[in-house]
Amino acid sequence: MNKKLRKTIIAGNWKMNMLASDLKAFKDELIPLIPNHKDWCEAVICTPSVLIPPALKAFNETGVGVGAQNMSQHKSGAYTGEISVDQLADIGAEYVIIGHSERREYYGETDISVNEKLLTALDSPVIPIVCVGETLYQRETGVTFELVALQVKIALDGVSEEKLRKVVIAYEPVWAIGTGKTATPEDAEEVCCAIRDVLAGLYSREAADAVSILYGGSMNDKNAVDLLAQPDIDGGLIGGASLKPESFAVIINAAR
Ligand code: PGA
Repeated sequence: MNKKLRKTIIAGNWKMNMLASDLKAFKDELIPLIPNHKDWCEAVICTPSVLIPPALKAFNETGVGVGAQNMSQHKSGAYTGEISVDQLADIGAEYVIIGHSERREYYGETDISVNEKLLTALDSPVIPIVCVGETLYQRETGVTFELVALQVKIALDGVSEEKLRKVVIAYEPVWAIGTGKTATPEDAEEVCCAIRDVLAGLYSREAADAVSILYGGSMNDKNAVDLLAQPDIDGGLIGGASLKPESFAVIINAAR
């Protein structure tokens, strides 16, 4: 399938960084650097949830979308401190990251909770970006493909082929996140291609070919072109390099 038929997504993950007072300067610097970016990609920034309303205001009419970094697996109810996907949709979030490795590592998220969150997200207008990826130990032990296949299969348990159309998958090798160590384009492509094969096995080749699969892990202004040129890499989930307008803009333009 022609890669161009899939949605290309360049998503920033700001993690627990930035303040509302930083938004205007960021926007003023970024937007002139990415004219007409809508012609080739969706650019989105996933901010801490409290920054979503001011970020939406700052990026109004710029074509840059705003997303969240986490959501509750529950629809609503007595879950102090949590945020529901309906609340995210209500304030205008377009995307939500689910199962980022930092959530899995520091907040006890599991493949099962990722699956619960995904099922809940798919009952809302918010587009889920589901993160999978192996640790260094797992890569060195040679279980990357089995591990990632397992993460994908459990995440998608109970998801229909029709709902799969709304799912975005991000392959993020844990050893590459925030470390400056990027997977080579070939290594990243190999796993993204394997993920697509898993989807084809679970659903159909046609359904698998329509899913956007992103790479994340130290993607930056230097390596983005080669990573994004791979046939099964449909965009990026970018942490550190999305905090600087110039480097984020280079990555957005590299997706062309
Ligand atoms: P990084 O983070 O680009 O800083 O490695 C990526 C991510 O955690 O999504």
